[in-house]
Amino acid sequence: MVINFREWRIYLEYLVMLPGPTNVPERVTRAMFTHMINHRSKDFVKLYADVVEKTQKVFDTTGDVVALSASGTGAVEASVVNMIKKGDKVIIPVNGEFSSRLATMLEWAGASVIKLQTPFGQNASFDQVKEAFDNNKDVKAFYVVWNETSTGTMVKYLDKVSSLTARNDSFFVVDGVSIVGGEELHMDKWGIDVCVTGAQKALAAPPGISPIAVSPKAKKHMIANEPPTFYFNMKRYFKYYDENKETPFTPAIPLLYAYKEALDMILEEGMDKRVHRHRVCSDAFYSGLSALGLTPFAKEDARSTVVIALNYLQGLDDKTFRGTLSEKFRVLVAGGFGELKGKVFRVGCMGEVSKYHVMRTISAIHSTLDMMGYKTNPEALKVAEEKLKTL
Ligand SMILES: Cc1ncc(COP(=O)(O)O)c(C=O)c1O
Repeated sequence: MVINFREWRIYLEYLVMLPGPTNVPERVTRAMFTHMINHRSKDFVKLYADVVEKTQKVFDTTGDVVALSASGTGAVEASVVNMIKKGDKVIIPVNGEFSSRLATMLEWAGASVIKLQTPFGQNASFDQVKEAFDNNKDVKAFYVVWNETSTGTMVKYLDKVSSLTARNDSFFVVDGVSIVGGEELHMDKWGIDVCVTGAQKALAAPPGISPIAVSPKAKKHMIANEPPTFYFNMKRYFKYYDENKETPFTPAIPLLYAYKEALDMILEEGMDKRVHRHRVCSDAFYSGLSALGLTPFAKEDARSTVVIALNYLQGLDDKTFRGTLSEKFRVLVAGGFGELKGKVFRVGCMGEVSKYHVMRTISAIHSTLDMMGYKTNPEALKVAEEKLKTL
């Protein structure tokens, strides 16, 4: 197929309703198109110090922040290799692909991992976590995937965990890759020691920058326990920042420009309003898509406000469904992972998500189901619209 430039642009204009990467505002994309600067210069110091300060605001922390030039996995790995040594005891709830991966990383680091395994679509309860702490007084850290992107579940008791970690001064580490910027977060108040995220999700920036925020206690621990790694060696990042407000290695400068612009947009909107927007949009998605006849995969009390996972209707083929949405409507949603492949699809409700994104996505899903011969409820859009009234 030969297409001209104009057609190519339209061809690529997707509504990106994936659980990352998400739609990036034009203002953020444009910020990347700038002259290159020296990463050992005052220009860079100004950019990077600004990025750090604004990231601290989003995380609600006064602790150190490092904006790694890496995908989210890099920041997650950094949270493991800089904190955990052979034999350390770690508690982690496991209920999907990303919590399983994190548990594996902890095992590779030599930790003795206590997995609180629950069925996919459910979370370990706070009482289960408390029981694990009661039974393991020598625990070194509690790791948790705040939003399990593979199943559309979200842990809702992060504010209570420090009552457990405070007992023996253990560490509280959060993988917030798919949720930071879309939900309420008070890192210092909630006693979180390490929190990581990825710019391409609820922060609505391009992929490639992954911030890691660190409490003073965790920073001290990381400096005293340098890992046998070079690139994700946090001690080096602290040294370069504390001495010169620089990074030890060449950072992805254009992506940092874009990320800074995304942070500006977040702070202009205000976190309270932003969180409200995400919650209202997810409510509209759950209600509207349920009215269409689709059932959410996650149990009601565990449902995420940033990733909506839905069970496929009987006989509905994943490839045809997502292919039609993409090719006929230019709407992108994600499939399921591992054992959920072909059984669920996932809608990202993050970053720029607005009432228009919700209505267009539900409308496209509705039409796709019609085209595939499924009987759907024409009232679904009205149900969603009703929920969106406060935006
Ligand atoms: C919870 C969670 N952790 C880690 C990752 C890995 O991030 P990346 O794909 O940017 O490496 C993801 C990606 O979706 C995620 O959702």
